[in-house]
Amino acid sequence: MRFECKFFAVVRRISSLNSFTTRTNTCGELGLDSVGEKVCLKGWLHTFRGKFLLIRDAYGMTQITIPGERKELLEKVNGINFESVISITGLVTKRPEGQENKKMQTGCIEVILEDLEVLGPAKKDLKFLPKDTSKASEHLQLQYRYLSLRLPEMQRTLRLRSEVIMKMREYLIKKHGFVDIETPTLFRRTPGGAQEFIVPTRQPGNFYSLVQSPQQFKQLLMIGGLDRYFQIARCYRDEGSRPDRQPEFTQVDIEMSFPTLDGIISLIEGLIADSWPEGFPELKIPFPRLDFNTAMSEYGTDKPDTRFKNKIQEVTGILKDVSFPENSTLSPSSCVSAVVFRDSSEYYTAAVKNKMKTLAEGCRVKKNSEVKIDKKGKWITNMKLNEKLKDELKSILKLEENDVVFIAAGNRTDVLKYLGKVRLEFADHLETKGKNIRSSGYNFHWVLDFPLFSVNDEGKLESNHHPFTAPHPHDVDLLRENPENVRGLHYDLVMNGNEIAGGSIRIHDPMLQEEVLKLIGEDSSQLHHLIDALASGCPPHGGIAIGLDRYISLLLHTKSIRDVIAFPKTTEGRDLMSDAPSAVSEKDLDLYHIKVINKQSKC
Ligand code: AMO
Repeated sequence: MRFECKFFAVVRRISSLNSFTTRTNTCGELGLDSVGEKVCLKGWLHTFRGKFLLIRDAYGMTQITIPGERKELLEKVNGINFESVISITGLVTKRPEGQENKKMQTGCIEVILEDLEVLGPAKKDLKFLPKDTSKASEHLQLQYRYLSLRLPEMQRTLRLRSEVIMKMREYLIKKHGFVDIETPTLFRRTPGGAQEFIVPTRQPGNFYSLVQSPQQFKQLLMIGGLDRYFQIARCYRDEGSRPDRQPEFTQVDIEMSFPTLDGIISLIEGLIADSWPEGFPELKIPFPRLDFNTAMSEYGTDKPDTRFKNKIQEVTGILKDVSFPENSTLSPSSCVSAVVFRDSSEYYTAAVKNKMKTLAEGCRVKKNSEVKIDKKGKWITNMKLNEKLKDELKSILKLEENDVVFIAAGNRTDVLKYLGKVRLEFADHLETKGKNIRSSGYNFHWVLDFPLFSVNDEGKLESNHHPFTAPHPHDVDLLRENPENVRGLHYDLVMNGNEIAGGSIRIHDPMLQEEVLKLIGEDSSQLHHLIDALASGCPPHGGIAIGLDRYISLLLHTKSIRDVIAFPKTTEGRDLMSDAPSAVSEKDLDLYHIKVINKQSKC
């Protein structure tokens, strides 16, 4: 509801609009002080019933009343389809006593219609009308995006997004001397990151890659002496679809020369605070910091949702000898951990148990079980727990009647990952049942001290952030012997359990850069331009990128980042409005030396 009130404040008319349009009034601004004025309103015909019509524009709605004696006007309006763009002139009048509409911004007045003109007729069979979008599926709304953009929520969102960007630009340029520089989006492949889209060219076998971020360009700008760069940058990644991902998205991309890690962190805290939208709950900076190992061991993820506690607790000491339902014993290196939810035993159902089993399989955890303590204190579990173990668990986990305990055993990384998912899943489940689990408002924190590399499923080293991240200076000597233990100078900003920004201090020594590329099995000749530039007098530098769509989506609590993008793609990466991607002509295929080998395949 907080945002409903805000709508009127954000969607306001800027008076200078009149200087370049012929609009005399907007549909949301008339009030008692306009009574007696003759006005002209331009907007969409929202509804029409009896002698009343509602005209709507981006700023609100006004009721127009057709005087009884103007039968020809009534007839004219009758012939106009909803959502046609009309222009009306009339006299602003106070509504009769008792007929005011308190829910409407302009609800104390009406305009008595004098003349009406249709400026842009709408066809009769529009697929949906903004007045009843609850009937329109998301698919339909994406297909006719120009219609869904007319919805108040979309209007509010895109205007709020614009306001935040404007304040960010002001903060960076005016307060901190940053320079807004556009960089190319047609480039060559950047190693060690997301799958990139490739763009064919007229040169046989040669392709561009669309940039997954301006990472290399911003580093090259530092080498070029542009010591404080930023850009509202378009990025492209051909990666799996999720509600918080789009193949084409926007970053607030930042880089600076001679930074410190603390300096970048406080720059970003200032940026978020300075651009924080009016009327939103108070924001406290600095944001708390968590190191990667704590995040993993307490929350089972590097982007913990710290709006609720229910931390993972290790109980290996107590349960190392216990048989899980499979009756198999644990290997000596196994870890046993638990997550407790208080006062929620009635919500632990067979469906929840099945869900957790599926999660466990996905995390390669074979030993997982639950303990439910009923309201009388009886333990219901398929684990073999004697009284002594129960007492020990009770004491260490501070268990009481009505608690549910999720327990898993096995490889430490898998167990933590699984319990991290269980924690979120059961919290969601409890919230759907009306329990308050997460604190309201916005919760930010930094995660620091990530390992520089992780080991992928094929046993190969991968950069945790990207291959340009500098190793922690204390760990450089470990690079050759023990790369998995090297920490990176990498930081992520997490908001309500979602990663909204990531950055690092960069490698500025060309030899070290080559060494890191070698460790992750990348051919450094692909980066000859960058390595050459690093050897041309390179200032130490670092930066960060905020995922703008994710950030705005979390600010407005939307279900998906699609809801904060004017023209998003579907989860399958399609543009439903134009039905892209689409086939191209044989002529184009020839021009770009492309042979399509399986036209049927749609993946
Ligand atoms: P990273 O890959 O962590 O870092 O991206 C930064 C932020 O961008 C957002 N993001 C996305 N948003 C929507 N759809 C996507 N597919 C998507 N992928 C990422 C996330 C993420 O935190 N060049 C580095 C930054 C740097 O080191 O300065 C980079 O791009 O919110």
